[in-house]
Amino acid sequence: GGTPMLLCYILLISALVGATLEDDITPTSPEEYYLEGSRVKISCNYTVKANNLQWNRQYPGSAPKFLLLLTDTATPLVVEATPPYPRMTAKLNDERTRVDLEISSAVVTDSALYYCAL
Ligand SMILES: *[C@@H]1O[C@H](CO)[C@@H](O)[C@H](O)[C@H]1NC(C)=O
Repeated sequence: GGTPMLLCYILLISALVGATLEDDITPTSPEEYYLEGSRVKISCNYTVKANNLQWNRQYPGSAPKFLLLLTDTATPLVVEATPPYPRMTAKLNDERTRVDLEISSAVVTDSALYYCAL
């Protein structure tokens, strides 16, 4: 037998910042499991003209950490954390209704709570 595959457990929640009743951002799935080394793609739908869409990550007992944000502008601009997370990218769909976070190769320590936020 080879090396046992490990699972990454990803929980998703959304957070509204400065929300009005019409503002909304919703994870497309509440939780996901990925094999270590696989490509992770998690998404949130949004129904608001947001200036920017943020991804944050939180480990149990720690404060949420900013991963990156994407501006919802004609040419979306990615603003990375310092230092950046090199395995992570974000993008918007063509309709500008969904924001995706992609992790190129999951590691077990990516198991965490992920927030999408406006
Ligand atoms: C997200 O948007 C897609 C496409 O509009 C829709 O099919 C899906 O039901 C939405 N998911 C949630 C959780 O709102």
